[in-house]
Amino acid sequence: MPVITCIDDLKRIYRHRVPRMFYDYAESGSWTEQTFRENTSDFEDIYLRQRVAVDMTGRSTASQMIGQDVSMPVALAPVGLTGMQCADGEIKAARAAEKFGVPFTLSTMSINSIEEVAEATTKPFWFQLYTMTDADYVSRLIERAKAAKCSALVITLDLQILGQRHKDLKNGLSAPPKLTPSTIANLMTKWRWGIGMLGAKRRNFGNIVGHVDGISDAADLGAWTKESFDPTLDWNKIAKIKEQWGGPVILKGILDAEDAKMALNVGADAIIVSNHGGRQLDGALSSIRALPSILEAVGDQIEVHLDSGIRSGQDVLKAVAMGAKGTHIGRAFVYGLGAMGQKGVEEALRVIHTELDISMALCGRRTIEELDRDILLIPENFEGRWQG
Ligand SMILES: Cc1cc2nc3c(=O)[nH]c(=O)nc-3n(C[C@H](O)[C@H](O)[C@H](O)COP(=O)(O)O)c2cc1C
Repeated sequence: MPVITCIDDLKRIYRHRVPRMFYDYAESGSWTEQTFRENTSDFEDIYLRQRVAVDMTGRSTASQMIGQDVSMPVALAPVGLTGMQCADGEIKAARAAEKFGVPFTLSTMSINSIEEVAEATTKPFWFQLYTMTDADYVSRLIERAKAAKCSALVITLDLQILGQRHKDLKNGLSAPPKLTPSTIANLMTKWRWGIGMLGAKRRNFGNIVGHVDGISDAADLGAWTKESFDPTLDWNKIAKIKEQWGGPVILKGILDAEDAKMALNVGADAIIVSNHGGRQLDGALSSIRALPSILEAVGDQIEVHLDSGIRSGQDVLKAVAMGAKGTHIGRAFVYGLGAMGQKGVEEALRVIHTELDISMALCGRRTIEELDRDILLIPENFEGRWQG
């Protein structure tokens, strides 16, 4: 096995092993990709304060997210089509998360179904809900997640309509891939991926196919997905979903202090400051830049998490020291999964954990509770001063 020292090592192997269509699907943002790029580059504007001569023995990265114990404040974000990055990808990622002691979030648009992941794991995972126009289907999905004993419902709010990613249109993204001359040529160079897929439990959308009338193949599904995301979603509907669910609710895709206050009013247990990894509103602020104003508005009343742009333990450290109670990683675990399956996700988590642990120590802190803004050097105008 190659020596993996950082998330970029996994990304290089991932790029080599996974069909172009799925690499491009993960590794892109919407339109010009400005927000996608700035999600990562804005972390570099924040510096860490080195402190010395502090006893660094007895360290721990253990913490809690929505009251659940985690070995570090990092959850696996919901990623659609994870089972196309690697055969049975959701099962493998969920097992890696379970082994590491961090939460796994299953996407509505997963390949492995809720039931398949539940059967393959021993601890509860989180389920991410996209709201659809078919209210009965949404209601059944919630009941399935309850029956599978999912321990939180993550409702995604920033995808009522899909942001355009140029590459997906040009590649004709589908699950499984449609066999055109160019996909066949590319697939022939990805034999390891292909062999894995031959033995996969599933190669279509497990939460949808067989659960919605008239959906039996991928071509139908593409059309169905486009038409079925609910453009009328509002705070009343969110409140109703929360009521039906009856358990912990995390609202994902908050990027504005006013929306954070609405989330607080609706009684959410946590919010995720997120711009969907730069895949929706291109030109929106990076998550890390949006975080301070949201913390200022609601930080003392609701748990605030962050995703988008995290590629290292240092990034986790910066977000948590700024005030986030937890972070979520999307691409960082997908790179590991595509590179080497479950082992690769474990490697991604190990890398981030090591970086977090050592960097925390070099800032003179031993536990997650001890982290605060005092270890950060944040530029004065980091949040930006915008014309009102
Ligand atoms: C390939 C891909 C698929 C995604 N699919 C979903 C999804 O099905 N549901 C969802 O709520 N978010 C989805 N997201 C967004 C992630 O949950 C998360 O917000 C984002 O990846 C965080 O940014 P990062 O990749 O820079 O860590 C997806 C992201 C990627 C990269």
